[in-house]
Amino acid sequence: MSMTSDFARRLVCWQRKHGRHGLPWQVREPYAVWLSEIMLQQTQVATVLDYYPRFLAAFPDVAALAAADEDAVLALWAGLGYYSRARNLHAAAKQVVHDFGGSFPDTREGLETLKGVGRSTAAAVAAFAFGRREAILDGNVKRVLCRVFAQDGEAGDKKFEAELWRLAESLLPEAEDMTAYTQGLMDLGALVCKRSKPDCAACPMAEICLAKWQGRIAELPRRKAAAAVKEVALYWLVLRNRQGRVWLEKRPAGGIWGGLYCVPCFERLDNLYAYAAAFGVAAEDLSEGKLVSHRLTHRLLQITPLQAEGMAADSPDSSIGGLWADPAEYGLPKPLAGYLRQF
Ligand code: ADE
Repeated sequence: MSMTSDFARRLVCWQRKHGRHGLPWQVREPYAVWLSEIMLQQTQVATVLDYYPRFLAAFPDVAALAAADEDAVLALWAGLGYYSRARNLHAAAKQVVHDFGGSFPDTREGLETLKGVGRSTAAAVAAFAFGRREAILDGNVKRVLCRVFAQDGEAGDKKFEAELWRLAESLLPEAEDMTAYTQGLMDLGALVCKRSKPDCAACPMAEICLAKWQGRIAELPRRKAAAAVKEVALYWLVLRNRQGRVWLEKRPAGGIWGGLYCVPCFERLDNLYAYAAAFGVAAEDLSEGKLVSHRLTHRLLQITPLQAEGMAADSPDSSIGGLWADPAEYGLPKPLAGYLRQF
């Protein structure tokens, strides 16, 4: 008798007929799979479809990525957000080259030793690239399992998470069906078993879904109280020289927009004024631009740009770290790229 669960049989059959096919990362090449899974962690498929081919063209294999300059990697990532992903990606490529002889580890445990690769991402790469029987459990998959099996624990609760992992592992099909099964979980969560207005009429689990039988589709999965969104005031110093170049500095690795190039950014106006003074720019020389609002996961940035132009190309005379640059040639934070595009 086959060990395959009814859940897995339904999912695999549905994925082959109704799931997503022909996505550029639906290949077995571990590098291509891993790259896509990192991009897809916090970014929608439609956006990744735009960035992924450009990134692969620039860095066609793991050796090319490992050998690349961090700025080149970040420039191709600019706009995707969560920039620690790009820095971890670069570090992981170096790990593969230096610690694994240029070949990706072919087990979930091995993949988990790579920077930026957690258990679910490691499992997805192991399943897609190596056909391993490993369970994934991202946000979409949790929602599917919580509904089909009426699991009503608290999101983020350690014991509940462990139960969901055990459930996910108990459902796996035979190895030969792992690609369709894993993609099917992602497809079902994204296309059918959506958080709001799930399309139960199109769902292969409709007959076995406990939440549906119990009339609890809307209440499962239980959600954590949303973290409050904090407003943060920031100030950008936007300096343009006589050649029309903009003064940029590379941001420190940790924190917001880490590693990207940006205009000098301050939490306090007096610090901005002190910095501007090095360019011979006084507070009254600065004109205030239109407020830029930018929502991050838990913060709403309210950014006031303060600008001046006409600086000499050889200022400042001190050794402030930064450069006069054509912003189009650098990976900039998305709100800054949008702001500078007006000029
Ligand atoms: N999200 C995460 N991995 C994915 C994949 N392989 N296809 C579509 N969406 C995904």
